[in-house]
Amino acid sequence: MELIHTVAELRARLANAHPIAFVPTMGNLHQGHLALATAARGRGKCVVASIFVNRLQFEPGSDFERYPRTLAEDCAKLERAGCDVVFAPDEREMYPQPQEIVVSPPKLAEQLCGSFRPGHFQGVATVVTKLFHVVVPDVAMFGKKDYQQLHVIRALVRQLNFAIEIVGVETVREPDGLAMSSRNGYLSGAERAEAPRLNRALQGVRAAVEGGARDFDALLAAASAELASHGWRVDYVALRTRSDLAAARPGDRDLVVLGAGWLGSTRLIDNLELAAGPDRAR
Ligand code: PAF
Repeated sequence: MELIHTVAELRARLANAHPIAFVPTMGNLHQGHLALATAARGRGKCVVASIFVNRLQFEPGSDFERYPRTLAEDCAKLERAGCDVVFAPDEREMYPQPQEIVVSPPKLAEQLCGSFRPGHFQGVATVVTKLFHVVVPDVAMFGKKDYQQLHVIRALVRQLNFAIEIVGVETVREPDGLAMSSRNGYLSGAERAEAPRLNRALQGVRAAVEGGARDFDALLAAASAELASHGWRVDYVALRTRSDLAAARPGDRDLVVLGAGWLGSTRLIDNLELAAGPDRAR
């Protein structure tokens, strides 16, 4: 596996490497990221992962500075996962000038996480656009844990005519259901024990809706209240259509329940897709 730090070197290395399968990351890798790399393995002749903590997607006052930088460990994991090339630029390489030209995300980015993290999806769309221009992948892998991000990337590719197939990879969970995330490492022992409640709350909503519940507002409010009563500062628990993240109405098919909330100074997100049961099609 090769570790490359500059755009020029990467372009030279990848010139004849197609088909390229790309795994963009911010490092501090866990099994969720490695599942992306493993999925990429079957999709390209050359698997490229990027590791870059992108300042543009951290809203002011958030955890950019404390985000763990663990390049050596990350490279060892990626090598074991069958990655061929790691691109790990520094900030000057990615942003040699102030990034005045930015990518404006689609409307669906304004809600859910977007309404709590101003500028976040613009930062994501901008860096992913730059990475796509540099790596020129044939296929790129993104985790379904960041469900709204996956929608933003799909819209980006469609609307800016990137010839890149976007693959959404299932969330990898700890045995107690907690979705794997680099931010789980910030949790204290007590917060870590509490953290799986988010997944359980979403499971409760999913089971109720799949079982025929129709009062979505009451269901979502109860899930939020349950989390809040255990010390969570809830950003949202929401039931949306999978295709465009529009608010779900009784009778809609193909739904997803999404949640985000804070335990202390750590923000966690999760989501679960619902089965398209025939009872909800009425
Ligand atoms: O999902 C992430 O880790 C980041 O948002 C991404 C896609 C690597 C862009 O910085």
